[in-house]
Amino acid sequence: MDTDFKHIFAPGDLRLPVLLLLHGTGGDERDLLELGESVSPASAILSVRGKVLEHGMPRFFRRLAEGAFDLEDLKFRTEELSDFIVQARKEYDLGERPIVALGYSNGANIAASILLSRPDILSGAILLRAMVPFEPDKLPDLRGKKVQMLSGLMDNIIPADNSARLAEMLKEAGADVAFTLKPAGHGLIQSDISDMKNWMAGRAF
Ligand code: MLT
Repeated sequence: MDTDFKHIFAPGDLRLPVLLLLHGTGGDERDLLELGESVSPASAILSVRGKVLEHGMPRFFRRLAEGAFDLEDLKFRTEELSDFIVQARKEYDLGERPIVALGYSNGANIAASILLSRPDILSGAILLRAMVPFEPDKLPDLRGKKVQMLSGLMDNIIPADNSARLAEMLKEAGADVAFTLKPAGHGLIQSDISDMKNWMAGRAF
C-alpha cells in the first residue's frame, strides 16, 4: 500500500491537538491552512492532499456520481489515509498527541469514514458539510470521541437529512456530537469559523 501523500506539516504547541486538514473536491493541501490557523492558532497542522483525480481535481476517494460513492475505493482510501496518519505520527514525533480532523465536504466525508472504520486514528473531528460515507455493518465504539458537524439547510450537494443521519450514527456509536444545521448552502459562511473556534476552545482532547 502506498501511504505517501503530498502534505504540509507545521509544528505547534505540544499541549494542543494536532489538526488534520482535509480539503474538498478540487482543493489541495494549502486550501484549509488559513482556516485551521484561525480555528486553533497554536495547533500543529498536518494538511493532506487527496490522491484521486476527478477530471484533474484532487479528492480523497472515487465517486460514481455526486453523492454516490465507489465504496470499494472508499474502503481502500480510508485504510491508506489512516496508515499515512500512523506513519506521520512517527515521522513528526507526535507521540500520543490527539489528532482532530477538520474536513470540508469530500474531506469531511473521508474523516467520517475514518471514524467509522478506523476509530483508533482520530480523537475527534470537525465535519463541515458532511454526509454518510457508507453504511457500516456494525457501529464502532466511538465513546470519548468529540465531533462537531456544521451542515447547511440549503446545501444543494448534501441533503440536510443525510447530514442529520450521520450525526445520529456517530451519536449511536457513542461519540459526543454537536450537530448544527445552519442557514447556509454548501459553501462556508462567516459564522462557521466562530462556531468552530468556540467548539475547539470549549473542549479538552
Ligand atoms: C463527495 O463527493 O464527497 C461529496 O459529494 C462532496 C463533494 O465533494 O462534492
